[in-house]
Amino acid sequence: MKKRVTKAVFPVAGLGTRFLPATKSVPKEIMTLVDRPLIQYAIDEARAAGITEFIFVTSRGKSALEDYFDHSPELEAKLRKDGKTELLEALENTYMESGAIAYMRQHKPLGLGHAVWCARRLIGNEPFAVILPDDVIAAEKPCLQQMVEAYEETGGCMVAAMEVSNEKTSSYGVLDPKEDMGSIVSTRGMVEKPKPGTAPSNLAVIGRYILTPDVLHNLNNIEPSAGGELQLTDAIAMEIEAKREVYGYRFRGQRFDCGSKAGFLQATVAFGLAREELGAEFGDYLREMVAMRNAAQ
Ligand code: UTP
Repeated sequence: MKKRVTKAVFPVAGLGTRFLPATKSVPKEIMTLVDRPLIQYAIDEARAAGITEFIFVTSRGKSALEDYFDHSPELEAKLRKDGKTELLEALENTYMESGAIAYMRQHKPLGLGHAVWCARRLIGNEPFAVILPDDVIAAEKPCLQQMVEAYEETGGCMVAAMEVSNEKTSSYGVLDPKEDMGSIVSTRGMVEKPKPGTAPSNLAVIGRYILTPDVLHNLNNIEPSAGGELQLTDAIAMEIEAKREVYGYRFRGQRFDCGSKAGFLQATVAFGLAREELGAEFGDYLREMVAMRNAAQ
């Protein structure tokens, strides 16, 4: 029987240089989409998929992330006294059961593969999810939940995948598909950031993974590759070489690259418009802005 996926790793030790100077003192994952930090979207998605153990790989300067998941007795007492039940409810999702969350330090940003490797002892010998919080996915059924359901059928390793244009493949890990079964695609290889014109397909890997413990062993044996970093993609590709299955999963939903400024702004607009209490006013404002811009051109 396939083991259930109950642990998720959140690699949050990157430097976030694309958001400097903000990320000099604010972790990228604490940056706010409407009224919630990016990390909250990731945690909500993990919970919806049945994750009960949350493993953060952090680095220097990320203490705001740890504080975020703590209780704040003074704030709660004040809200309770003022009868602000809605705000108290909003805080509920930020709490973690004692023992459900663990932090592991990555001492040097040697790459995503190295960050996941840092969590190996906490993961142990079971399948686990990896969520990159800067990939925010708007979906009716949360992306990781879709993947866990598909994984229950397939087993093996599974990576979230989406079609990108030819010009963009060199920014992603890219799958070499073997058999395309619709949502699920079996693979014969994958390559991190292929040089322009050399990508095996347009199916790019984005920041959701379900991985077997074999990948942790592979991480012991990888060398720095794209960008001089230890790449998670290389350790997953070793599974394919070992004749074990790696599947791409075409999720239903819209992914925003909140690790880039343009992606973050797009997400802010999309999530702002989708909010019941804001959508109408914000939509009117955007229409006016666009009309004014067009008139000025
Ligand atoms: P990115 O490639 O987005 O890097 O990492 P970054 O450092 O966060 O941002 P930029 O490019 O400098 O702006 C993808 C994910 O992998 C994590 C990051 O925190 C992010 O969630 N990561 C990356 C680590 O945890 N450790 C690393 O050594 C590298």
